[in-house]
Amino acid sequence: MRDEKASTLELDDIQSGVLRPRPSPFAATYIALRIDDRAAGRELLRRISAVVSSSADPQSPLSDTWVSVALTCNGLRTLGVPEAAIDSMAWEFRQGMASRAKELGDFGESAPENWEAPFQTTDVHVVVVAVAPTRERLDEVLANARRTYETTTGIEAIWRQDCHALPDDKEPFGFKDGISHPAIEGSGIPGTNPKEAPLKAGEFVIGYRDEMNGIQRTEPEILGKNGTYVVFRKLHQRVAEFRKYIQANSNGPEDEELTAAKMMGRWRSGAPLALCPFHDDKKVGEDPKLNNDFLFEEDDPIGLKTPTGSHIRRTNPRDAKIAGVARIHRMIRRGTAYGPILPEGVLEDDGVDRGLVFAFVGAYLGRQFEFVQSQWINDGVFIGANEDKDPTVGSMGPNESFTIPKKPLRRRLNGIPRFVVTRGGEYCFMPGIKALKWIADLDT
Ligand code: HEM
Repeated sequence: MRDEKASTLELDDIQSGVLRPRPSPFAATYIALRIDDRAAGRELLRRISAVVSSSADPQSPLSDTWVSVALTCNGLRTLGVPEAAIDSMAWEFRQGMASRAKELGDFGESAPENWEAPFQTTDVHVVVVAVAPTRERLDEVLANARRTYETTTGIEAIWRQDCHALPDDKEPFGFKDGISHPAIEGSGIPGTNPKEAPLKAGEFVIGYRDEMNGIQRTEPEILGKNGTYVVFRKLHQRVAEFRKYIQANSNGPEDEELTAAKMMGRWRSGAPLALCPFHDDKKVGEDPKLNNDFLFEEDDPIGLKTPTGSHIRRTNPRDAKIAGVARIHRMIRRGTAYGPILPEGVLEDDGVDRGLVFAFVGAYLGRQFEFVQSQWINDGVFIGANEDKDPTVGSMGPNESFTIPKKPLRRRLNGIPRFVVTRGGEYCFMPGIKALKWIADLDT
């Protein structure tokens, strides 16, 4: 009985931010709120739950603007969720992102003591994410939302980050982003790799069967059911540094493009090296039917096309032989760029902040997000590459290297600096819509 129930996704109770792809193009804003008064916080949640759209809605209650809401562990506590209920949630979530700095490779400049305010504090309680097709439309809706918390004493907006889609869906280093997504059983939303079997819904939504044949539950069940964990990380990108390094380690402009592609596993157009090993092919990069239709093992076991240490092969080794099973480490990603583009050809840093607000969505913070970050991005043992890290997004220390398999001799890049710096972030829980109301109605 229970199993049958557990296999049909309750799309109308799952927030749209969990499963629905974004409009394209889009503008997005993240707002972090602190709750100083429990009753005000519950009232806010009640109001927000009325405008949060579900994964079943073809339209948002706010027409073309989609609002999602997530809570930190301190947020749940401040709203009066009983400690016993919090204890039934993921251990990493209860620790919070700053406490997990060592595991995440957040040291040196990326260490929590260097993060933007308020991320080194315990003040972030609620994170609201709004997405709309244009900035004007988003601003209108945000102005309305602001009235909700600005007129209520006891709630303070303490951080805001505006994000946007860059032209051609590129991220600040210049690569097309947002290409590869897993298919999820019962979601009705297709994946992008026809060669990947859909993943069990329990990998992404709590209360359903997962790939390990288990069903994650909280106590009480309503708190977790149809919810999921969300990781927000503000990642500053050193674009000039990235360009300079590639130029200094390549033989001319054509080779520069190849070096960059080898580090990422895709050309800047999005065309994968797996399908276009020698030259970029814009048509392949732009074609959603082609640009993610590949595996690694049979065609390219040692990485002569797509290096085993490149960003996309590390973060999703697909069918490649690695230590472990790739399917239990999949994730939904929603990266959104912030800051202006560094004009093409500029090799000197202009001091302007730019990067990605990286967002992870998944039911298992430990074996999905933290595992990928610590074992696949910041270590190379799983591919037999000792301590080599992801050359593009790894937490680089001194003397970092990257191997590009090549015949007759491999190529080795040395002295890779840190191109991505963590500026802050939070581990959050994005509850189901009924759970939002349950929290709002608590009388603790
Ligand atoms: C500033 C930091 C980052 C940048 C610039 C970046 C950029 C990219 C780009 C350009 C792609 C290829 C396009 C696509 O498939 O959507 C990609 C794929 C991916 N990235 Fe990142 N990324 C960053 C951080 C991260 C982090 C921190 C993680 C995980 C902890 C991650 C996980 C993934 C995954 C799972 C894929 C899909 C791989 C595949 O299925 O082929 N990325 N990223």
